[in-house]
Amino acid sequence: MAIISSKSSPEPKPPKKGDAPLETTAAPKQSAPESLVREPKTPPQNDATPAAVPVEDGLRPQKLADYIGQKSLKEVLDIAIRAAQSRKEPLDHLLLYGPPGLGKTTMALILAQEMQVDCKITTAPALERPRDIAGLLVNLKPGDILFIDEIHRLPRVTEEILYPAMEDSRLDITIGKGQSARTRSIPLHPFTLVGATTRVGALTSPLRDRFGLIQRLRFYEVDELTKIVQRTAQVLSTPIQPDGAEEIARRSRGTPRIANRLLKRVRDYVEVKQSGDIDEAIAAEALELFNVDPCGLDWTDRRLLSVMIENFNGGPVGLDTMAAATGEDAQTIEEVYEPYLMQLGYLQRTPRGRVVTRAACRHLGYEDSAVPDFHGEQQLSIM
Ligand SMILES: Nc1ncnc2c1ncn2[C@@H]1O[C@H](COP(=O)(O)OP(=O)(O)O)[C@@H](O)[C@H]1O
Ligand SMILES: [Mg+2]
Repeated sequence: MAIISSKSSPEPKPPKKGDAPLETTAAPKQSAPESLVREPKTPPQNDATPAAVPVEDGLRPQKLADYIGQKSLKEVLDIAIRAAQSRKEPLDHLLLYGPPGLGKTTMALILAQEMQVDCKITTAPALERPRDIAGLLVNLKPGDILFIDEIHRLPRVTEEILYPAMEDSRLDITIGKGQSARTRSIPLHPFTLVGATTRVGALTSPLRDRFGLIQRLRFYEVDELTKIVQRTAQVLSTPIQPDGAEEIARRSRGTPRIANRLLKRVRDYVEVKQSGDIDEAIAAEALELFNVDPCGLDWTDRRLLSVMIENFNGGPVGLDTMAAATGEDAQTIEEVYEPYLMQLGYLQRTPRGRVVTRAACRHLGYEDSAVPDFHGEQQLSIM
């Protein structure tokens, strides 16, 4: 059995997205990316692993077989696990990328369970000083997993310490300054680095090249999310009908974290209204109240699209202009909102900026002619 070192931490946790109430006002905080929620911490000074951060969540599946969806990712990792086990070697370093809430942290924990090793969890902004990462590395046991969230935000010095650690299981540290500075090498136990990022393009290429496996997580299909909602409902002992689970799944933006959060809101609604099991009608009613529309768009998604349609004639609009016009953070728009809007085909990125599609106009109740058809949607739909 793997012991998740960071689970035992008694520290108060930062408010997690899953528990944030849905808001109907201008700033739905529940949609902030993890980078905004999980503030860099000042690590405690005397802890053996100062930069480890706690893992939240009692809803995570524990085994690869319980991890729903992401079929190709699971296949690749299943082979990697079995090969590593038969060679009695640690897993190759793995980079997981994709929008927030798709299961990157969950997968790192599952890998540790499957490999029967410990998983130390940290986040790049917590690794500010060389000694933060050095402390974590020297404390890893053979084969342990070091999970670094938001790895695109690693400070340069930390990144440079990771290179020899990843390649040769070696920690190079510089002692002293200026002319008297000397480098010492300390051997490390072989380990597996699992990095997670929402922005794979922001990684430096030397770091990216040191990962043996680079895997993208995709948005989930409705049937997969339905299973996730049913599983979570079981964990939470909330009675739910299959059509109720499906209704929540449809409105979850392809994202398990959102599915779990919406389920909790519907559960609250049902409890207060004393309306029995969650079925399709109740789920729809509750989620309408929380301003989540049938496609899963929330207030901010709709506002982003309608500002583009009304103020910019559908675009192209630059990201910063969009941020200024809507009062949203540019990075949040890019990492949290846009990926799903693009997945739905409501938004496209072009070299000149973002453009809204006619499908988005129809969804929001505008005339098709509200935006020009410069996006070649007709051609796209024929292809
Ligand atoms: N494939 C999956 N099957 C079941 N639950 C999942 C799956 N992926 C994610 N979850 C749930 O979604 C939530 C968010 O997952 P997490 O791993 O924290 O996402 P990420 O690290 O990519 O932001 C967790 O509570 C987890 O229980
Ligand atoms: Mg995570």
